[in-house]
Amino acid sequence: MTSSKCGPLKGVANVPGDKSISHRSLILGAMSVGETRITGLLEGQDVLDTGKAMQAFGADVTNHGDGEWSVHGVGVGGFAEPEGVIDCGNSGTGVRLIMGTMATSPITATFTGDASLNGRPMGRITDPLALFGTQSYGRKGGRLPLTLVGAADPVPARYTVPMPSAQVKSAVLLAGLNAPGQTVVIEKEATRDHTERMLVGFGAELSVEEADEGRVITLTGQPELTPQTIIVPRDPSSAAFPVCAALIVEGSDVLVPNIGLNPTRAGLFTTLREMGADLTYENEREEGGEPVADLRAKFSPDMKGIAVPPARAASMIDEYPILSIVASFAEGKTYMAGVKELRVKESDRIDAMAVGLRANGVEIDETEDSWTVHGLGAGGVTGGGLCATHLDHRIAMSFMCLGMATQKPVRIDDGGAIATSFPIFEGLMGGLGAQMRRDNR
Ligand code: S3P
Repeated sequence: MTSSKCGPLKGVANVPGDKSISHRSLILGAMSVGETRITGLLEGQDVLDTGKAMQAFGADVTNHGDGEWSVHGVGVGGFAEPEGVIDCGNSGTGVRLIMGTMATSPITATFTGDASLNGRPMGRITDPLALFGTQSYGRKGGRLPLTLVGAADPVPARYTVPMPSAQVKSAVLLAGLNAPGQTVVIEKEATRDHTERMLVGFGAELSVEEADEGRVITLTGQPELTPQTIIVPRDPSSAAFPVCAALIVEGSDVLVPNIGLNPTRAGLFTTLREMGADLTYENEREEGGEPVADLRAKFSPDMKGIAVPPARAASMIDEYPILSIVASFAEGKTYMAGVKELRVKESDRIDAMAVGLRANGVEIDETEDSWTVHGLGAGGVTGGGLCATHLDHRIAMSFMCLGMATQKPVRIDDGGAIATSFPIFEGLMGGLGAQMRRDNR
């Protein structure tokens, strides 16, 4: 795909439903007996793959059209053994949460994914699952394809998550659902808390305590979950793309309505405002227990580079690629530290962004767990580069946004991965005025 310099981006950007909440809605729907109704589900490939997996484990998942879905669940401990291999495609969240969910049932399942997912570390999941009595047989380094033999007589676990990861935390909690007694998960840094909020919503007994050792989450196992009606808020991680594009394209003014601003997810917007972005929250309110607002982003020619506090990393971990694009159009350096986890996402995101930005005339320094973008100011980036996306949706969309404001067009080698999280990206951005085209239709 190629993205070329465009006129002002203007209009309303209705971005899709939240990916994290969509996965969890399907999974917890499958763990309760009766019908869970979901409105606004993200119909990206990642979530569709999780829906298929829930069906393979015995739940009934139905698409009613227009983002309306229902799940007839089988209850905690009710998973059936799947007949085939569970293919989670590109989705780390999908496979890791599902592995946790089945780990304490007396069934065996084999998981695989695409080349990106099969290269990602799974030991971070299988290690804590072993505490419940789950056995795993994976490739070198615990990589997929991998077979899990669920614990027939699970014991509850107490586990301190060694890296900031909501996926690991969630996998352990979901495994704890079918273990008798109390499972305790401790996280040193707070990560997105959708699993905790949703477990409480479905009727599980779960408490959170802030202690010296970190956030201590205690779940009482083997509850009877009650089906829910879920309205999925729009995804702040998807909102990041039209918001950031508006900040760097001259004359832009874009409204992105109804965005979830859960503090465990909203770090990017705080950072952009510190940089001097013209980004305002309108109509701030609470919906379904989550803070929500309409975001208005306007072209911001006077942004300055900053040092992003490492303590904020977990709340914006998926947004560093698009932040590095905005930083390229700010004055001075933007320093991003404490971000080692970026190296094990759908791609090594520090490397993918550094190589692609250099190809477009931006200077980048990097260490194992930090990187610095040397900003060139508004309109200052030459562009003209071809960027490798490594099957990573956020890398692809970030470079498409770059091309909207560079002097020469920016190309990516493959836009296919965009459909995993933001299937309407091309149409939505085009509707605002972006100039993107597919090169080999
Ligand atoms: C997610 C957690 C994060 C994030 C991913 C979604 C989730 O991953 O990067 O896109 O829904 O729990 P980690 O848990 O690996 O940090």
